[in-house]
Amino acid sequence: MKDALTVIHERASVRVYTSQPITDGDVETLLRAAMAAPTSKNKQPWYFVVVNREAARHTLAAELPYAAMLRDAPLAIIVCGDARVHTGESALSWVMDCAAATENLLLAAHAINLGAVWTGVYPYPDRIQSVQHILQLPEYIIPLNIVAIGHPAKPARPKDKWNPAKVQYVY
Ligand SMILES: Cc1cc2nc3c(=O)[nH]c(=O)nc-3n(C[C@H](O)[C@H](O)[C@H](O)COP(=O)(O)O)c2cc1C
Repeated sequence: MKDALTVIHERASVRVYTSQPITDGDVETLLRAAMAAPTSKNKQPWYFVVVNREAARHTLAAELPYAAMLRDAPLAIIVCGDARVHTGESALSWVMDCAAATENLLLAAHAINLGAVWTGVYPYPDRIQSVQHILQLPEYIIPLNIVAIGHPAKPARPKDKWNPAKVQYVY
């Protein structure tokens, strides 16, 4: 098993997949990793929709502007927030919580030799409504993104994003 820093630095968005399906065991591994993320007040305001039905993936791909890879990805996991969980000033905390869960999911996918990419839904109202409609979600379940997942057709190519100019040190 790769160590955490190796997984973090090797991960890259993967948008082309083989047709090999994802096992139920791998799906659970990904969801368990997502749900291990930190959340504000430990409220875990997430809701996941796991889609492998081809017709549903095609419909989602047709509705979302930058998610064509969903047509060929064997699996899609829609990471959603339950807007009822955080209230008042912290109402939007579900976004941070679900983003943390998504990053865990992406890292776990790489750790088990799968490839994945975050495709954006939130905060675009038209995309949110489309996904809610296609998946028959109630209005309080807000899709943050759709993660396309599959076995990579070619190895991930991580970008070097290290930029010391983005850091301020106060010693
Ligand atoms: C909030 C967010 C929205 C994104 N939306 C899309 C998308 O709609 N389609 C897509 O192909 N990639 C999307 N990405 C993936 C980014 O393009 C990708 O993470 C970025 O180019 C850096 O590349 P890397 O993931 O390989 O490091 C999104 C990533 C984030 C964090």
